[in-house]
Amino acid sequence: PTPNPTPNPTPFLDLQEEYKLLQSHLTPPLLQTLVQAQYIQGPPVKQLEKQLQYLLRIPHCITTSSGTDALVIALRALALEREKKEFFQPTDEILTTPFSFVASADAILRAGATPVFADIHPQTFNLHPESIQKILRSKHNIKGLLLVHLYGQACEMDEIIKIAQKYQLFIVEDVAQAFGGKWNSQPLGTLGDIAAFSFFPTKNLGAMGDGGMIATHNPNLAHYARMLTKHGGKNKYNSQYLGYNARLDTLQATLLLAKLPFLPTLLQQRRQTAKLYQQYLQHLPQLKLPYVHPSAQHTYHQFTISTPYQQQLQHYLQQHHIPTMIYYPKLLPEMKLFQSKCRTPLPLTAAKQATQQVLSLPISPTQKTQITQQICQHIQNFFHQNT
Ligand SMILES: Cc1ncc(COP(=O)(O)O)c(C=O)c1O
Repeated sequence: PTPNPTPNPTPFLDLQEEYKLLQSHLTPPLLQTLVQAQYIQGPPVKQLEKQLQYLLRIPHCITTSSGTDALVIALRALALEREKKEFFQPTDEILTTPFSFVASADAILRAGATPVFADIHPQTFNLHPESIQKILRSKHNIKGLLLVHLYGQACEMDEIIKIAQKYQLFIVEDVAQAFGGKWNSQPLGTLGDIAAFSFFPTKNLGAMGDGGMIATHNPNLAHYARMLTKHGGKNKYNSQYLGYNARLDTLQATLLLAKLPFLPTLLQQRRQTAKLYQQYLQHLPQLKLPYVHPSAQHTYHQFTISTPYQQQLQHYLQQHHIPTMIYYPKLLPEMKLFQSKCRTPLPLTAAKQATQQVLSLPISPTQKTQITQQICQHIQNFFHQNT
């Protein structure tokens, strides 16, 4: 039966509904933390780090004030470890994707290095290993790769790790959008030298404010990263490096600890919705569904379709009270911030096309089947009317 199109606005991501679902599990520990009053570096911070280490099967997790800070600190830890310098220099290059949130690449600038942008794979929207190879074959001073597992799906890690080994490059994983994702059964964030996670409220594991984390197998990187989150010293009154106040609050750690047991369910619900979208939208000729690499376990942080009718479809859905997002409408090297501060050795053809074609559909873990069906019905109607 054809579902009736909905007159009610559908939230793009329904955090209120998620809160209602988890409220009874969040409130008691939150109150306990308030009563204990150790608001900075209280016991929940260490507990959370321990649980995340266990979950990711990695020896070092260092929580931070945001995913952005985690990226900057991860890069600066690499500069200290590999270059014996506090910051990279502008002549040091780090290769990354032009198709991401600004933080992925501005972290490179803030760590002192220069971003070099390679093209993406038109199907996965992640960095294309061939494009990385091409850039590395010409003259460069690339020290490492900053990979973004976009929309919740892993980059092609087997090929990229081979390339990194061949050219002795470090790998930073930006796992902001892909917490819980895997590559060949290995948790994302454990495949490179160091990884940055975000607990921004909309992420797969979201706090109720800003938060992030660094994960690494390398004890030296962990040591530097931990110091940099706390003013660059082993203890309060002995700063050695120019560090930050970049710790995760005890309150946020408390909430994340309480939410962590529900992560598998929340991810499962995202996958369930994705499955419905795949089922209902698979036969539309002008619409491409997300491609899932056989080695990747997608977390569907976003469910992103692509279509030459991006603008028209977004407008049509908006008229029917269905919000969608374009992640991302502009390439990073086109932003003023990066002008004359980056290198773009190759045409970014696939990335440019992605900016003009991608459209992310609502995918809250709490989204009801009926809502997903209604959204699909509207999309089908649009294509029947327009193609
Ligand atoms: C790919 C990516 N990297 C980095 C970040 C930065 O994380 P945060 O907002 O926690 O600073 C985000 C999201 O916000 C992101 O989507």
